Amino acid sequence: LPPVIAIDGPSASGKGSVAERVAKQFDFHYLDSGALYRLLAYAAHTQHVAWSDATSLAAIAAGMDIRFAGGEVYLNGGQASAQIRTEHMGKGASEVAVHPQVRTALLQTQRNFRQAPGLVGDGRDIGSVIFPDAVLKVFLTAAVETRAQRRYEQLIARGEFADYNIILEDLRQRDLRDSQRASAPLKQLPDAILVDTTHMNITQAVDMIVTAFNK
Ligand code: CDP
Repeated sequence: LPPVIAIDGPSASGKGSVAERVAKQFDFHYLDSGALYRLLAYAAHTQHVAWSDATSLAAIAAGMDIRFAGGEVYLNGGQASAQIRTEHMGKGASEVAVHPQVRTALLQTQRNFRQAPGLVGDGRDIGSVIFPDAVLKVFLTAAVETRAQRRYEQLIARGEFADYNIILEDLRQRDLRDSQRASAPLKQLPDAILVDTTHMNITQAVDMIVTAFNK
């Protein structure tokens, strides 16, 4: 089986940017698992299905046709990148992700991304549930205030409304949902290396992971 690098961590820890660059370094495929939960939240929203309705959500998840191409994501043939990147769908993703049926429905979809020559996956349970046999497991994190500041700057750069204190409070709630849910809670695995980017830039984080993989 092709090797997997699993990069798990809390919201806004920079997983996406770091994982994508690590994948480029090795010419590996990249799985943004958060995008799958966002796509589900978005699909449910368009079908007027509540983010609390686990049974209907699992049915939608099982029928989603998802493609990543040229940095864009397509749901059932239609472009969905911009629609899923909103704060609203981020919140929706965090809510649909608590349901065990939803996580089970998305399990095989994620495993299908494991293709030669290798895969870098980022999320919350890549190293614990999706690919427990990953050759390298990384817990990528940063202080919650640092993550809130980064998210704030990202939104401002995109020309969106942003309030630091609201973002901080929202991240704290997502951290709680991620770490306290019964199904696949986020935690640092004993066999994962810790990459704390509170005082680190993206390049330094990428270098740490590339070095660890090459060992
Ligand atoms: O990191 P951020 O919350 O901004 O976004 P994301 O990585 O796109 O993930 C969106 C939400 O999906 C997260 O808040 C998690 O609650 C959930 N998620 C999950 O439960 N498991 C994963 N493997 C990936 C994301």
